[in-house]
Amino acid sequence: MKEMRVGLGDRSYSIHVGHGCLEDVGQACKDLGLGQRLAIITNPTVADLYLEPVERSLGAAGFSVSVATMADGEEHKTLETAGRLHGDLIEGGLDRGSAVVTLGGGVVGDVGGFVAATYMRGIPFVQVPTTVEAQVDASVGGKTAVDHALGKNMIGAFHQPGLVWIDTETLKTLPDDEFLAGMAEVVKHALIRDSELVDFLDQHVDTLVDRTIGAERLDWLIARNCAIKASVVEADETERGLREILNYGHTIGHAIEAASGFKLKHGQAVAAGMVANGKIAVDKGVLDRTTCERQEALFRRLGIARWAGATSEKLFDLMRSDKKTRDGVIRFVLLHGIEKAVSHDDVTSEEIEAGMAYARSFVTG
Ligand code: NAD
Ligand code: GLY
Repeated sequence: MKEMRVGLGDRSYSIHVGHGCLEDVGQACKDLGLGQRLAIITNPTVADLYLEPVERSLGAAGFSVSVATMADGEEHKTLETAGRLHGDLIEGGLDRGSAVVTLGGGVVGDVGGFVAATYMRGIPFVQVPTTVEAQVDASVGGKTAVDHALGKNMIGAFHQPGLVWIDTETLKTLPDDEFLAGMAEVVKHALIRDSELVDFLDQHVDTLVDRTIGAERLDWLIARNCAIKASVVEADETERGLREILNYGHTIGHAIEAASGFKLKHGQAVAAGMVANGKIAVDKGVLDRTTCERQEALFRRLGIARWAGATSEKLFDLMRSDKKTRDGVIRFVLLHGIEKAVSHDDVTSEEIEAGMAYARSFVTG
């Protein structure tokens, strides 16, 4: 079991990464001193697989547990779903001393965290993430949100979890496309923050693709990513500066994801966004072609980048209405090299067009 701390003063918390540790979550919640009443927020897919051991573990630790379920899928990451879950919490008798446990991928974590942030003006919550995306990224850092018809993650709150409990064994049941899509954020973390991790990926990417990586290396990979994310969040909890680098690939990525009607997975769209950013950075003369090719080689081997069949005009509209846009200027994080991610507000429409055209042809081969 690996343990890391996210140091945020009175909002500090631990991240635990282990293989087969799901049944220990109850004791960990008890050690945290959570109130007696808990609600597990999950979806039917994850509930079928993992609700029983989590419920049993929490019950054995003395908690009184209710379960609130949301439908599976990004299309259900809405204010309406959050409202229904608030109702389940009220009916479950949760009060200001109670807490939420989110069990699932990034969608359940984001919605469940948002529900915890807003229920009775905020109650504690614990993240039990079960996808790569959620284990390496979404469960750490306290961004909670729901989507709006006019934009992704438009309604949300910063609300840090009290604990992140990661059982990497849960990834065994994750479909291959979900497992690999989550690796987009791993590549992102490596490129913006950790050259050793880039070397690791160069060496082991094929074992990720065929999923023979093994428990020990997988645990190491997940924990390393949590540590990277934690270090950025500790330095800039509410994205006033440094945390912006975590948006690498997300400017175009979010637009592609939305343009696909959320049919594309987050990681697939973000991977395409990173490829576009690579071209933009090389065109601007801030990134060398060799580093850009190293990024592309990883995405070629992972095979995850996807594009949506949308016009550039539509994608520009979506980018302009994204919350990363400030005063009408579309902002980009560009690599100036490995571990050198820099925010830019000087990318021209022509450069964006060229980046998107390049990524589109990269994706379609
Ligand atoms: P997801 O939550 O939709 O999960 C993907 C699919 O896998 C779902 O069908 C889910 O039910 C299923 N699933 C989950 N765990 C499983 C398991 N162990 N075995 C089998 N199936 C399982 O998608 P995701 O990729 O985990 O998360 C994407 C979401 O995360 C997006 O909404 C994105 O915006 C958000 N996100 C948030 C942050 C943040 O900082 N808050 C960061 C990155 C992404
Ligand atoms: N996933 C981006 C962030 O947490 O800031």
